[in-house]
Amino acid sequence: GLPARVRIHEVGARDGLQNEKSTVPTEVKAEFVRRLADAGLTTIEATSFVHPKWVPQLADAEQLFPQIADLPVDLPVLVPNERGLDRALALGARRVAVFASATESFAKANLNRTVDEALAMFDPVVARAKAEGVHVRGYLSMCFGDPWEGAVPIPQVTKVCRALLDMGCDELSLGDTIGVATPGHVRALLTELGVPVEKVGVHFHDTYGQALANTYAALQHGVTTVDASAGGLGGCPYARSATGNLATEDLVWMLQGLGIDTGVDLGRLVATSAWMAEHLGRPSPSRTVRALSHQ
Ligand code: HMG
Ligand code: MG
Repeated sequence: GLPARVRIHEVGARDGLQNEKSTVPTEVKAEFVRRLADAGLTTIEATSFVHPKWVPQLADAEQLFPQIADLPVDLPVLVPNERGLDRALALGARRVAVFASATESFAKANLNRTVDEALAMFDPVVARAKAEGVHVRGYLSMCFGDPWEGAVPIPQVTKVCRALLDMGCDELSLGDTIGVATPGHVRALLTELGVPVEKVGVHFHDTYGQALANTYAALQHGVTTVDASAGGLGGCPYARSATGNLATEDLVWMLQGLGIDTGVDLGRLVATSAWMAEHLGRPSPSRTVRALSHQ
């Protein structure tokens, strides 16, 4: 059966904007997050406390976070290391995410570390966050395929998931960073993972048009946390072939049709993405946004 309710983990302001060619002004980002909250999203990933040279688009994290901190929603932020955690905690962040890789190639490209070195870098981050009562998400990228290494063997994924949970992560997000997964692969991974399904979120990119089908496969498996990006914004600067995330609107349209509650007002969300698309100067790739906003 399918779940009665799904928690959408909105990543548009982070995964969506981190790869934009033009720099989005901090005020526009703050307005974006406020409008997402107003549309009923309750978990809105806000930004990343990473090295500003690695992701210049999110270099304004210190300016942005205080502008949205009063919103009555969860505002998780990415932190790669203790320096990032210090910056996030100094601003009062209560939810952080570390981001590991199932493959050596992406660990190197994204974090300048081997997989094990990256895990060693996260270990004190998670320990300190937990000691402060801060919720920790553990992302795992390249769970299905990798642009340099091809298909990723499931045991390789399982091993890093186990390490993230052992170090104390409260939840995992399984990333199909380059969007190559198909529903059969999703089912196989979730079946072999051996992790309580309440701790597992899914993070699909729509490169091959499979994100919704993959999500449906995950829901059938009992997953209730789904990452999505308003308007289908996104990509990863350190994975060439990564295009946009699953669009939140496409997800909400499907879930509404299935009678699954999300608490999201689709009209307000579409209006927000249409507004952002106008700001970015190109139409949203989301089919639902286009259908409902006459773009
Ligand atoms: P590094 O060059 O190895 O850094 O980068 P380092 O540890 O050697 O430090 C070098 C300098 O950077 C030092 O300064 C540090 O203080 C400074 P110095 O002493 O030389 O003056 N530094 C920092 N400054 C500010 N904030 C920090 C920070 N850390 C170090 N947090 C590092 C290593 C991890 C920092 C770098 O690789 C990095 O920032 N990477 C981030 C990449 C990123 O954000 N990628 C996108 C997110 S992942 C993603 O999109 C996938 C996901 O969506 C899921 C999916 O789809 O798969 C999550
Ligand atoms: Mg992503």
